[in-house]
Amino acid sequence: MARIIIVNGPNLNLLGSRETDHYGTVSLDQINSDLTELAQQLGLEVSFFQSNSEGSLIDYIHREASKADGMIINPGALTHYSYALRDAITAVNIPSIEVHLSNIHAREEFRSKSVIAPTVDGQIAGLGSYGYALALSFFADKFNKE
Ligand code: DQA
Repeated sequence: MARIIIVNGPNLNLLGSRETDHYGTVSLDQINSDLTELAQQLGLEVSFFQSNSEGSLIDYIHREASKADGMIINPGALTHYSYALRDAITAVNIPSIEVHLSNIHAREEFRSKSVIAPTVDGQIAGLGSYGYALALSFFADKFNKE
């Protein structure tokens, strides 16, 4: 069974109460529990990690990527400036999808630039928590075909 790691960066632990106009009212725990259910239906194994610290995210990716078949990552604000996180994703070289709840291309100018985007297979932005589910479905399709 393919294993997908789902990684969330800074401030995403506050989903549900944080800037609900942009990020909705669903908590990260609820999103993860919905994704666990979906993964069961899709025949995938999922593991979750969230951290507010860039180093912890990089350490997790270094440690877990070799045991994973794919990664879904919402890097939060690190999206816009973390070359260290980008290098970590490049280094581990597993299929990866970048997810954003909000449409980063329709907000402040600084959010429209993702330094992560060139190193991932694709980006989903602006579809709320549905973006994670779509990314998971993509992986199910990909690994079922292989
Ligand atoms: C975000 C968008 C980022 O610009 C922001 O810093 C976040 C969340 C999103 O999911 O829309 O923390 O990644």
